[in-house]
Amino acid sequence: MSQRAFVIGHPVAHSRSPLIHRYWLNSLNLDGSYEAIDVAPADVPPFVERLRGGEFAGGNVTLPLKEALFAAVDESDAAATRIGAINTVIVEDGRLIGRNTDMTGFLASLDAAAGNWVGENAIVLGAGGAARAVVEGLVSRGVKKVSVLNRTPSRASLLASRYAKEVKAGLLMDFTQLSEAASLVVNTTSVGMGGTQFDKLTLKALPKTALVADLVYTPLETPLLRDARARGLKTVDGLEMLLQQAVPGFAAWFGKTPEVTPELRELVLNDLEGTR
Ligand code: ATR
Repeated sequence: MSQRAFVIGHPVAHSRSPLIHRYWLNSLNLDGSYEAIDVAPADVPPFVERLRGGEFAGGNVTLPLKEALFAAVDESDAAATRIGAINTVIVEDGRLIGRNTDMTGFLASLDAAAGNWVGENAIVLGAGGAARAVVEGLVSRGVKKVSVLNRTPSRASLLASRYAKEVKAGLLMDFTQLSEAASLVVNTTSVGMGGTQFDKLTLKALPKTALVADLVYTPLETPLLRDARARGLKTVDGLEMLLQQAVPGFAAWFGKTPEVTPELRELVLNDLEGTR
């Protein structure tokens, strides 16, 4: 039987997930489908019932439904439970299994840029949903010190309080001082979208070996990444994470592990540029 998968969100029309998954379905010559479905938060319960009915092999979940689907599934792994959100659902005999592949996709994007990335000390900018997935990923990789710096200090403190002493909360103004010992900087805020930039945030004190990652991918080269590149630092763009997070879901629903190829990057990049 041909497998069906979906991405749900509200709105969902901007999602690049159909483009990515349909590219893989075509290139692997698989008989399946992937569709975008707009589900308003109030319509999650009937949609979950549809899922239990076995219409779909599973799908992706985007904003603002990641927490609601986490609450609705029958089981999630420990990482998704700590993050409190999922972006991937797998349906098995009417049971719903939730996973957070934003976290594993983020780690895979670091690995794609820097071999098997290992580091001791990381700075995460932002304390929202994306930051939760990134922090969980870094802690699961054994990073000994993760500094979460946020405009609103209480959100950073709340995130740090979910972990033992390896995660510390701070302010964006702490960046310069903390960056002297950092091997990784990750921007999880929306700063960078449309070319916006942080006030007074300079990478000048970062070690030359540090990696700078940005989850924002419009533009692909944010001012933060441009600055990093100009300083000779290695960078990881947000498109890599977007592509990497899609791999495990596709493998679970359609039974073949797809590859993130330069051709796929180009396809999504052209699509992003066409709609700007
Ligand atoms: P997401 O789920 O995508 O992470 P979110 O939960 O709304 O989205 O979080 C957005 C993050 O971007 C927050 O850390 C937010 O900081 P606040 O907690 O202070 O709101 C951060 N952010 C958004 N705009 C910002 C700006 N202009 N300067 C600094 N941080 C910003």
